[in-house]
Amino acid sequence: MRLDVSALLSDGGQSVNGSVTILGFAGSLRKESYNKALLRAAAELLPKDAVLEIFDLEGIPPFNQDLEDNLPERVRDFKTRIRAADAILIATPEYNYSIPGVLKNAIDWASRPPKDNAWRNKPVAIMSASTGMMGGARAQYHLRQCFVFLDMHPINKPEVVVAYAPQKIDTDGRVTEEQTREHIRNLLENLVAWTTRLKEEPLC
Ligand code: FNR
Repeated sequence: MRLDVSALLSDGGQSVNGSVTILGFAGSLRKESYNKALLRAAAELLPKDAVLEIFDLEGIPPFNQDLEDNLPERVRDFKTRIRAADAILIATPEYNYSIPGVLKNAIDWASRPPKDNAWRNKPVAIMSASTGMMGGARAQYHLRQCFVFLDMHPINKPEVVVAYAPQKIDTDGRVTEEQTREHIRNLLENLVAWTTRLKEEPLC
């Protein structure tokens, strides 16, 4: 049986008691997604001073610039949650050596209009899982390129790249391989430390 992540969804997320609120989402809409499984593992492996909310990109329409001054409700909700979060966690597949259209579409919506780019100054961490031998590494580098224009602050290490995902994630959608769990734990620790540092000493 799959873990229910709905309990992790809060009403918009605010830092409480010095904790770090992380908004996580997957670049896959698939119910049995390996990348959604990485997010569920992240929820289990969080440092104790962090909270993870998970947002599903289902329902975000194709980007249309005609609508950017009157955003669809689902996009407004997404932007509100990004703004409320201290940090972002993205788990994405690689499609045709790049990021899935669903993910790029969501990124584009939340970056608009330019004076209201919700990503600006957000610390961010990436994970990827793939059925293949590269584990989504090429998608991670394309995503990092987007972060430059979006003015986000990614952490570099560890690179959580999960190759041959069916060997490490079971049919219940649980990450079973201990080394992968350890990488996710380290990634989250680094994201929380980086986010705390940026809160104390903003870059601009
Ligand atoms: C893929 N897949 C894939 N894998 C990879 O390592 N490199 C790639 O370039 C691609 N390209 C690709 C394109 C498309 C359109 C699909 C549907 C799939 C395979 C991919 O790793 C696999 O389907 C994963 O299971 C997708 O992730 P989720 O949905 O399980 O999170």
